[in-house]
Amino acid sequence: MTMGTASPEVLRRSRHLSTFAHQGAVYLYHDLYGYLLQMSPDLLGLLDSFEEPQQAVQVCTRYAGSFEGQPPQQFVDIFYQHACLIEPEDDEVAGIWPMIAFKAKWNVWRRKGDRVILWTAWGERPVKTIELDAAETAMWDAFDGEIRLNELRAKHDAKKLAALVQRLAHSDVQAVKLSAFPASMYAKRPAMAPRYLGSTMPYRSWKPGEPLETPTKDVVTEDYYHNVADADAQFDHRETTLSHLFREPHPALANRTYGAALIDALAAQGRLPTRTVRVLEIGAGLGFVARAACEALIARGLEVTYTIQEIAPALAAAQRKRTAGLPVTVVEGDALTAELTADSFDLIIANEMVGDLPAEQHSRVDVGMEADGSGEVDEAKLATLGRAGELVKDLGIPLFDAPEPFYLLTGALELTIRIARWLAPDGTAVVTEFGDRAAWPKLSSHLDHPELSTHFGHLLTAARAKGLTGSIEFVIDLLDMDRTLQGLATTRSHFRALRALCADAGVELPKLGYTPDLLAARLAGKLELADIGELRWDKIEDRLMGLVPHEFKALIVRKPSGN
Ligand SMILES: C[S@@+](CC[C@H](N)C(=O)[O-])C[C@H]1O[C@@H](n2cnc3c(N)ncnc32)[C@H](O)[C@@H]1O
Repeated sequence: MTMGTASPEVLRRSRHLSTFAHQGAVYLYHDLYGYLLQMSPDLLGLLDSFEEPQQAVQVCTRYAGSFEGQPPQQFVDIFYQHACLIEPEDDEVAGIWPMIAFKAKWNVWRRKGDRVILWTAWGERPVKTIELDAAETAMWDAFDGEIRLNELRAKHDAKKLAALVQRLAHSDVQAVKLSAFPASMYAKRPAMAPRYLGSTMPYRSWKPGEPLETPTKDVVTEDYYHNVADADAQFDHRETTLSHLFREPHPALANRTYGAALIDALAAQGRLPTRTVRVLEIGAGLGFVARAACEALIARGLEVTYTIQEIAPALAAAQRKRTAGLPVTVVEGDALTAELTADSFDLIIANEMVGDLPAEQHSRVDVGMEADGSGEVDEAKLATLGRAGELVKDLGIPLFDAPEPFYLLTGALELTIRIARWLAPDGTAVVTEFGDRAAWPKLSSHLDHPELSTHFGHLLTAARAKGLTGSIEFVIDLLDMDRTLQGLATTRSHFRALRALCADAGVELPKLGYTPDLLAARLAGKLELADIGELRWDKIEDRLMGLVPHEFKALIVRKPSGN
């Protein structure tokens, strides 16, 4: 990479570029180096003008004024620095020799004797295997983030080495990234390592001119849940919940399941009645929490009636199956319109579902404040937001610290109001989700449907406005989780590839919160942990599979007994 060098006069587009898109953003992937650039579609237009060699000045003149006042030359320089624009006579592949090969993050491979097989499963793309022969495996083993390809060329067949780097650096595989600087340079300064070295591209391939999704504004999810077709796939591949990872007894929960640990926590806080308990669970997924919680309550000698309010017919069917034989009734329908009796539940559980409820995006300016963070809400303008404005006013949701634009969790606030109505005097509700006490909702774009983090402070404010008392806790503290255990860290694509590798060895790998022991037990007799790459282990509280457990919070509220 020729950092900081002014670009030459005549340039052409590299022949090794792939383009991808997600949620309205466009990405350029350099298939020789692994560089990853996010950009607007019009910048790709600029790049594509160099399909044939062009005078950069002429192209820039044509594009003058196209990029909100930014000079096109500045982008030409960035493209040149990232070898996306090159000199017409350049031998592109020869450009790799001064570089250093890094094994990329989130690779999956298996070693068999002197050979390695790689598995890839990027995003929704089909699973693919790449078999290396013995000579290529020796090269793969030498990709240590330190040695330059120039030096490796002296020890290995140069043609074969160049072909291997091209094969493995390509966006189809993403097993290798090239860097001008060695890993040791970043060892003590990880923040200085360029982002592309640790990034992957799981999004769908996109060509300029094809339609782009529009970025999410308001979040509307009812249709998404109505249309869940395959209940198990929903949780195993698409969206994993923390409770799903702990649906089997787990060492971090003293060999209890999530549902059982939740009931123990509520009992320890003196929140369970003594003889009969009427439970409402809202949005129960595959029914694992329902089954475990119901069994734990029965084991405590309580007489249980357990109602599930569930919007997705396919999940309601899974819940009925999973809780067969237990005193569980599944009611189908939207919790935001359901007619349930007031004051009728001793315990309400809404586990990791409020993030799926509708939310609205608004501008500070719409409610009379300034975009820069100053100003005050103008009540008349707030009223123009309709129901969202009413919620803010009636519940006393403070907007002064809202970012620009901001998300209002209208669905979660409505649900909190309903929970306050449905709770029996002295009853408790637990609402868990990914989010924070005081952070405004942020949109996760990596799922196949938009999902927002939860502003728990707003939910507690709403609960208090409706007469409940309560607090916000870390879910891992509530469940008394052993934070120090090691857990497997994955991404969706990494886990899909790992699962394919295991299937090839005759092992079925369900999505669970694996510790090294749990994974070794699952693979026993078929695969050795040491033969699989790359397994990343992290402290369970920081990362488990694709989740960050310490980011999950619980709103725990109680309705006063009324006497
Ligand atoms: C992310 S899943 C969580 C499932 C389960 N509680 C768990 O811990 O794994 C969200 C659940 O809420 C349900 N859901 C989403 N919106 C709902 C609504 N408006 N009313 C009732 N259920 C809803 C979904 O169908 C799904 O069962």
